[in-house]
Amino acid sequence: MIVVSSATSNTGSAVAEALLSAGHQVRVLGRSRDRLRRFVERGAEAAEVRTDDPDGLREAFADARGVFVMIAPGFIPDSSDFPAHQRRVISAYRQALDGLDVLTRIVSLSGWAANYDGARGPVWGLRPLEQALDTLTGVEVIHLRPGWFMENALPMIEQVRVTGTAHGLIPGDLLLPAIATADIGAVAADLLTGRRKAGTGTLELQGPRDITLDEVTAAIGKAVGRPEARYERIDAATMREGLLAAGFSTHMADGTTAMTIDVAERRIAMTRPRDTETATPTTFEEFLARVID
Ligand SMILES: NC(=O)c1ccc[n+]([C@@H]2O[C@H](COP(=O)([O-])OP(=O)(O)OC[C@H]3O[C@@H](n4cnc5c(N)ncnc54)[C@H](OP(=O)(O)O)[C@@H]3O)[C@@H](O)[C@H]2O)c1
Repeated sequence: MIVVSSATSNTGSAVAEALLSAGHQVRVLGRSRDRLRRFVERGAEAAEVRTDDPDGLREAFADARGVFVMIAPGFIPDSSDFPAHQRRVISAYRQALDGLDVLTRIVSLSGWAANYDGARGPVWGLRPLEQALDTLTGVEVIHLRPGWFMENALPMIEQVRVTGTAHGLIPGDLLLPAIATADIGAVAADLLTGRRKAGTGTLELQGPRDITLDEVTAAIGKAVGRPEARYERIDAATMREGLLAAGFSTHMADGTTAMTIDVAERRIAMTRPRDTETATPTTFEEFLARVID
C-alpha cells in the first residue's frame, strides 16, 4: 500500500494519478471524502484525514510501505499565522510516521525555497519539514525540491485573456526553473515504488529548461489569441496592495511579498545545474495546452 497525503492538491493529485496509472494499490488522504471520489473511482482507497491530526494520519499510514507527504495548501489567504499551521502539520507527520512496521520509504514535497537558509513567508516550513522527517530512523526519506510551479501561471491566463498584460514582482527576464506538478508527481511515484532509486537526501527538480515571465506571458498570449501580450513588472508595495485587495490577511500579504522578493533577488534559487537527474519533461507550452480549453 502506498499512501498519498493531501491528494487533492496540485502535487498530491499528480502523485496519486501517477501511482494509479501504474496499477499500484493507493490510499488517498484529504479532508473530504467527496473530493477524493475521483481517485476511488479509479480503484484507490480514501480516508478523511486532516494533515494536522497525528492519530488519524498514523492510522492511515499503518500498513503503508511508501508514503508521500507535503504541507498543503501553498498558502491560506486569510491566515493570521501560517507558520503555526505548518508547525502543526510537520509535528503531526513526524509523530504519525515514527516506528511504523512496514514503512520503507517516505517522499516529501519540499521546494527550492529550502535551498535558502532565510526562507520566509509561505515557504518557511519546507526546511523544518525536511529536518523533522530526517530524524526518523529505519526508513529512506527523500525530499523533493522542485522549482517554480507552472501552476503559478494559471491566474496570468485570465489576466492576459482579458487585458493583454500580466504583471508581477519577479523581473520579466529572470530565468525560472518552471516545472509542471504532473512531473513532480511522476518522479514521486517512481521513487515511492522503487522504479527510481530513492536513497536519502534532497532532489532538486527543475523542469525541462529555465523560462522567463516575459516568455510565459508571450506563450499565454499566443495560446489565447492575444499575440501582443506583455508582462509588466510591479513593485513590492503594489503587489502587497493587490494581495490585500484580493482578501489576503496582512500576515499573508507580507509573507507572500517577502517570499517573492527572495525569488526576484535570487536568494531562492537552484543550487546545481540542470542534468538528467533533475530535469523533468513537460514544457510550459505543453502545460498550457493541457490547461487551456
Ligand atoms: N508554488 C510553487 O512554485 C512551489 C514551488 C516549490 C514548492 N512548493 C510547495 O508546494 C506545496 C504546495 O503544493 P500544491 O500547490 O500542490 O498544494 P495546493 O494545491 O495549494 O494544496 C491544496 C490542498 O490543500 C488543502 N487545503 C486547502 N485549504 C486548506 C486549509 N485552510 N487548511 C488545510 N488544508 C487546506 C486542500 O486539500 P483537502 O481539502 O482535500 O484536504 C487542497 O486540495 C507547498 O508546501 C509549497 O511550499 C510550491
